[in-house]
Amino acid sequence: MQPTTAKWFAALFGAALVYAIIRYHIAGDVSWEHFPLFILNKATSLAAVLFVASSYLIGKVFHWHDHDRAMRLVVIKFCGLVGFFLAGVHAFLSLALLSPAYYGKYFVPDGRLNLEGEIALAVGVIALFLLLAPAITTLPMMPKAIGGRRWKRNQRMGYVALLFVVAHLVALGWRGWLAPSGWNGGMPPISLVAVTAALVPLLVKRKQIKEKRERQQSAD
Ligand code: HEM
Repeated sequence: MQPTTAKWFAALFGAALVYAIIRYHIAGDVSWEHFPLFILNKATSLAAVLFVASSYLIGKVFHWHDHDRAMRLVVIKFCGLVGFFLAGVHAFLSLALLSPAYYGKYFVPDGRLNLEGEIALAVGVIALFLLLAPAITTLPMMPKAIGGRRWKRNQRMGYVALLFVVAHLVALGWRGWLAPSGWNGGMPPISLVAVTAALVPLLVKRKQIKEKRERQQSAD
């Protein structure tokens, strides 16, 4: 890791960790006993979304590295790969914790997942799988191996992955989002913070496509 990427890691993972600690341990009543897995998993999942979203926003919304194109590319790659890695860690931790004792609201009384739980896990697995495409194609030999067009298509797969992440979060979180009186310390649930972060690159992309279409139409 170079100093710039280390700063990105400290800022995004640090922000997610601090948010999770304040919301669940300080403002909420989750015991510190559950920090190593349960709370760290919340921070990891939020950081995963923040990193993936950032990798699509650097150069479009975040202009801090515009003066140095090589560094910008390094940071974009770093954010995408770390996002994918953290999403994988989150999937492992979640599956280790997956039980009514930790996630009662996603289970029915006989111990099986309810509809929201099943949908959330199914789309979560798809999102993780889709994130593989942009992650693998960041390998240095890939643009040459698969050609520019396919490389770009694979990189864009991250947007489709973000759509599935949004579905994952809506299925898991929508009930809690509609009950702000129950939010610890008035702080929005991590799922709501994450869905907002995931929607930003999707909306920016939509705007870009719309503008491109308008430009093409006026040129015709
Ligand atoms: C195999 C794939 C996945 C599984 C099994 C999985 C499982 C889970 C589970 C069980 C939860 C509920 C956690 C809780 O309420 O504390 C959750 C929440 C979450 N997941 Fe996933 N997930 C997967 C993929 C992903 C991916 C790819 C992302 C994003 C890149 C993601 C981001 C999140 C976020 C931000 C939350 C909200 C955490 C919270 O509300 O506290 N997940 N996931």
